[in-house]
Amino acid sequence: MLSGKARKAGVLGWPVAHSRSPRLHGFWLERYGIDGAYLPLPVAPVHFPEAVRALVQLGFAGANVTIPHKEAAFALCDAVDDAAQRAGSVNTLFFRENGRIEGTSTDGYGFLESVREQAPGWQAGDGPAVILGAGGAVRSVAAALLDAGCPRLVLANRTAVRAEALARDLGGPIEVTDRPRLEDAALLVNGTSLGMEGQPPLVLDLAPLPATAVVADLVYVPLETPLLAAARARGLQAVDGLGMLLHQARPGFAGWFGVEPRVDAALRAFVAADLMP
Ligand SMILES: NC(=O)c1ccc[n+]([C@@H]2O[C@H](COP(=O)([O-])OP(=O)(O)OC[C@H]3O[C@@H](n4cnc5c(N)ncnc54)[C@H](OP(=O)(O)O)[C@@H]3O)[C@@H](O)[C@H]2O)c1
Repeated sequence: MLSGKARKAGVLGWPVAHSRSPRLHGFWLERYGIDGAYLPLPVAPVHFPEAVRALVQLGFAGANVTIPHKEAAFALCDAVDDAAQRAGSVNTLFFRENGRIEGTSTDGYGFLESVREQAPGWQAGDGPAVILGAGGAVRSVAAALLDAGCPRLVLANRTAVRAEALARDLGGPIEVTDRPRLEDAALLVNGTSLGMEGQPPLVLDLAPLPATAVVADLVYVPLETPLLAAARARGLQAVDGLGMLLHQARPGFAGWFGVEPRVDAALRAFVAADLMP
């Protein structure tokens, strides 16, 4: 039930039909009994800036931004925070009452919160993190790990120059290699699209990982990737990609609707039910 004062937010993407964000935010709106709405907002790239200005005029509180608009959103903001600066992109917009547009990138935060939730006891300072991939998601995850105190990152990507560029941009203790050593890794992250439904699996022997290592996959369709199944079979703590998806949504919801939302089993089950391949 919406009143004339309902708070409004949504997700801008092109296409946007695949986005789970409306389902996720819709669950929280209902759970907390909020007079508000969260809409899918399909917008072609050529119309993106005018669409954002229109949302401001329409009194939206803000929006999420997904592919292919994350860099355009960064360029359009009046102010961005450190996380967005490090990511070079924005996934969450806040429209302030004075008309200013502020942006942040919450993927790195969502990743860290997800690992803390699914691998209790893990701390960023525990040891090196080996990250496979060097795309947009890895950029956010790598920056968040360094900022949280990870002592060293080891980056391996099919296209080495992309990993080198990322290491240069982020600065700090980052090694780029095509043969990552797993022996002293405290955390292994798959940030490639390997293992995703319709893609080849990630083939990697997990035997050299220490018994205390945590294995995280950013892929969330399927929820249990071959990599996570192999990690669990070795008795390692495994962290799925759904946790990152859920936790990255929290700052936006809190800012737009004024309630700190909870990630719990009921929310996971509700969103996971929509992830079946
Ligand atoms: N859980 C979440 O909330 C969340 C959020 C964002 C993304 N993700 C997931 O994270 C993954 C990466 O997303 P992204 O946005 O960073 O995509 P992206 O920018 O397109 O990067 C894709 C990465 O995968 C690598 N890759 C693709 N195909 C490969 C192959 N056949 N062999 C080896 N490497 C391959 C690419 O390597 P090259 O550089 O060599 O092309 C690149 O490192 C996707 O699975 C996505 O679904 C999850």
